[in-house]
Amino acid sequence: MRIPEDTVDRIRQAADILEVVGDFVSLKKRGSNYTACCPFHNEKSPSFNVNPTRQIYKCFGCGKAGDAVKFVMDIENIGYGEALRYLAKKYGIDIEEQEQTPEDLLRQNERESLLIVLNFAKTFFQQTLQTTDEGKSIGLSYFRERGFTNPTLDAFELGYSFDKWDALLQEGVRRGYSRDLLEKAGLVLSRENTSGGENKVFDRFRGRVMFPIHNVSGRVIAFGARILKADKTQPKYLNSPETTVYHKSQVLYGIFQAKQAIRQEDVCYLTEGYTDVISLHQAGIKNVVASSGTSLTTEQIRLIARFTPNVTILYDGDAAGIKAALRGLDMVLEEGLNLRLLLLPDGEDPDSYVHKVGADAFKEYVRTEAKDFIDFKAVRWLADAGDDPLKRAEGISDVCASITRIPDPLKRQTLSQRVAQVFHVSEQTVISEINRLLRKQQDQSRKESDRQKDRQERQQTGGGAAGQPSVGGPSIDEINALLADAGIDHMDAGFGGFGGAPASPAPSVSRTPSIRTPISYQEEECIRLLINYGARELEPGITLCHYVLNELHEIDFQTSPFDLILTLFREAYIQGDILTANDFLNRRSTEINKERPEDAAMQHQAIHLTTPRYEISEGWLKHEIHVPSEEEIGILADAAFRNILRIKKLLAEQRMAALQQKIRESGGKTPEEFDQLMTEFMHVKSLDMEISRLLGTVISG
Ligand code: UTP
Ligand code: MN
Repeated sequence: MRIPEDTVDRIRQAADILEVVGDFVSLKKRGSNYTACCPFHNEKSPSFNVNPTRQIYKCFGCGKAGDAVKFVMDIENIGYGEALRYLAKKYGIDIEEQEQTPEDLLRQNERESLLIVLNFAKTFFQQTLQTTDEGKSIGLSYFRERGFTNPTLDAFELGYSFDKWDALLQEGVRRGYSRDLLEKAGLVLSRENTSGGENKVFDRFRGRVMFPIHNVSGRVIAFGARILKADKTQPKYLNSPETTVYHKSQVLYGIFQAKQAIRQEDVCYLTEGYTDVISLHQAGIKNVVASSGTSLTTEQIRLIARFTPNVTILYDGDAAGIKAALRGLDMVLEEGLNLRLLLLPDGEDPDSYVHKVGADAFKEYVRTEAKDFIDFKAVRWLADAGDDPLKRAEGISDVCASITRIPDPLKRQTLSQRVAQVFHVSEQTVISEINRLLRKQQDQSRKESDRQKDRQERQQTGGGAAGQPSVGGPSIDEINALLADAGIDHMDAGFGGFGGAPASPAPSVSRTPSIRTPISYQEEECIRLLINYGARELEPGITLCHYVLNELHEIDFQTSPFDLILTLFREAYIQGDILTANDFLNRRSTEINKERPEDAAMQHQAIHLTTPRYEISEGWLKHEIHVPSEEEIGILADAAFRNILRIKKLLAEQRMAALQQKIRESGGKTPEEFDQLMTEFMHVKSLDMEISRLLGTVISG
């Protein structure tokens, strides 16, 4: 369903950031802003900021930032349209229902109907367990055997399904739920009647103890069900199928019961099964969830990340458990979370082990035995390797491969020290290995995207001659390779490094952490100056915007979204306008119902670049960008001047590297060609030296 443009505007205008955020956290006034402990990550002192004038929020801890709509999207984990609908409801704004297609209406109603019928089923299974003879003698006695107490049965709303073909179906129909709805909820199955009559309809869950699966807000969306008979033809656990309300890859069993404890303890224990969650919960260890019925997914990890950045994996010590742990390991790291792992003694799972040793010993075991991923992997490799240097090298490489998954470059740096200690090698060895792997990944993803481009081009031209070898400037990888040869470290590009994940990762760049180019820092700085001070006059009649655009005549930026922002500044300037932060913040209000990734990225950057407490990352220091006290015109002019010079210097360096490459590759072909390349090289070199002189940079070599 589409929301009409004017309605979107009305919603946006009505939504007050203080009121919207205030529904979720209690805000305290501090100066002209409001602060609170961040609802998106766990913290003790408030770094979450709301600015009522600009109607935005930003967390200095985790980097989450945006406007009222974005806040609702983030906190409720819903899409743009749904967030608008939420706000419309809050502010009593009608969204014209005739805009909905019949299918939209149906789908929306279906969701709600499914939740209602699932809730009915849950209650029916609970009553069967608690009040019927069959339920008590079979289901309840089983749970008692497992040691589950009444509060536990209640907390997880456990139940029992009659060992009959249609107990739930009968009761459901009697209550007015249609067969169709019961089927859509995954509660009944229908088989075609081969002899031509009506379809055969029957209960999916029969003679099993029932584990309702709740979503984050506690509504039942599916069931897991364990068989009690020794029937080898039946699976031990049966789960609901995927439905409109149940997408198993996005759900964690126990998250509703655990979320508060996860926040409090600031760590989430991740297990494999229903019974692990329940037994630990009963033992007082409540910050525990399970990826029941599926192997761990990225969506599940992101769900955990809403409550804590710390995950401890508690898996069985058998081969399957180890395999699952190793698989989960890289996935958790990729999401930027801190990870510890613990394998239980062979033959035990968290459920059996907590019963065996009790809650205190279990907690102590986790405290002393959970290892970070480096130790977890190293123990295995070192035990295996003995004196074999090759095996050790393999081990280092394996651990480094996991480190490359981590998006935060500073964290990677810190961890390389640990790896060096654990494997008794120099830190430089480890760093080189990490950089080698990063470059390899970069290469691979570039090759992959080249291949894709190739394929697309070939499709468009209907086959034909192979493309020209690329002319023009050197690629980012070439520059990085050159820098690496010169002993200069790579910089990381994930904007997550300094304030929140990018709103949209580029589609072709897989999960490999990309390498941030030096020029991207200067481009960002340039955009920051433009957004914050574009209209300031550096000298009478010359605005900063005028100066910068003039200097950057015919120069395009190389990094997204700065390239796009620069273009927008240019377009506006031609019309006689100088853009400000608000132009980016409000940009989406004209784009209805569709969150364009470029816009989201721009909005995110605009907020990031205009927030006063602008944090200086190490990358920035390294690239000599000076932030403070720019209010004075002299300092501002100087900052703009130096920024432009640095951009030009980096471009000169790129050009020189490209020329060197060409000289190496083909310069020897003809003397004329060689001369021409050399002449240009010398020209660029002298330009570069002139810039260096202006910048007062020391020239080495
Ligand atoms: P178990 O096989 O230990 O289940 O699997 P259990 O109910 O504890 O059985 P016993 O009493 O030890 O024999 C542990 C967890 O793995 C998941 C369930 O979540 C269970 O809690 N599981 C197991 C499944 O999802 N499907 C299966 O077929 C088996
Ligand atoms: Mn078990």
